[in-house]
Amino acid sequence: MTPLGWGRRYLMCPPTHFGVLYEINPWMHTEVAVDRDRARSQWEGLVSTLRAAGAEVVVVVPDESVPDMVFTANAGVVNLRGEGPPQFVPSHFRFPERQGETEIFAAWFAAQGFAVDRLRPELAHEGAGDALPFLDTLLSGYRFRSDQPAATELSRLTGAPVRSVELVDPRLYHVDITFCPLDDRRAMCAPMGWDAYGRRVVEALVPEPLWLTDEEALTFCANSVVVGSTVVMPVTPPRVGRQLEAWGFDVVDCDVGEFLKAGGGCRCLTLSLDVDLATATGPVT
Ligand code: ARG
Repeated sequence: MTPLGWGRRYLMCPPTHFGVLYEINPWMHTEVAVDRDRARSQWEGLVSTLRAAGAEVVVVVPDESVPDMVFTANAGVVNLRGEGPPQFVPSHFRFPERQGETEIFAAWFAAQGFAVDRLRPELAHEGAGDALPFLDTLLSGYRFRSDQPAATELSRLTGAPVRSVELVDPRLYHVDITFCPLDDRRAMCAPMGWDAYGRRVVEALVPEPLWLTDEEALTFCANSVVVGSTVVMPVTPPRVGRQLEAWGFDVVDCDVGEFLKAGGGCRCLTLSLDVDLATATGPVT
């Protein structure tokens, strides 16, 4: 088994302005108050858990106008492109409530020396929340937040083969709530999130899937962060934890309950900065 070649360096955003101030997914209810102090300590807990697992965490300054900016997974798609200048494709958000994040993140990446390559303006795509690398392929989800043709654009811009899966359950509205790459053979997979064709795409892509039951999937357990052999999970259903441990992973629970109120778990709170799609070649599907 070869560990993932990415996931050792993350961009995160402190929850200074985080709250459930609008409802753009079925988990968000504005009448449910977020405890900001608890959110802050949970977020800091995630930072220390990731650092203890051997990851580096860098931080972007939060902006008051965009409370969901804490979910940096949605900033865009990062591609280190081997030795060349690194590339960043900023997200185009489906909902106006998050659209202000695009230029904030684009400016941050430009300042770090990334080439900022844009999707066509009419296409929505919510970044790593809807595009996760598995081997040399990007698995991209579409429907609730991202448009399917954006996957083709991403493939054109990054050079990586992209496989699209249609998301079918509004509770699992981003692909990173349905899919979690673990190493070069394994991934947590929530088939309830995909249509029949999407399930076949994943079956063909992942040699050894850990299939999640519907109940397990709805805990957000696939929204985990994998740092080498450590899996940092927002919730660990017992059967899933046992299987991961049987495969040799260290499973670490990390309570991010305040963020689950906004429909986000551990993965949503991070953006992997060390994804390199340079070695990827192949057809677009
Ligand atoms: N409240 C945020 C939204 O609905 C949560 C984003 C979760 N991010 C993710 N990568 N799944 O946009």
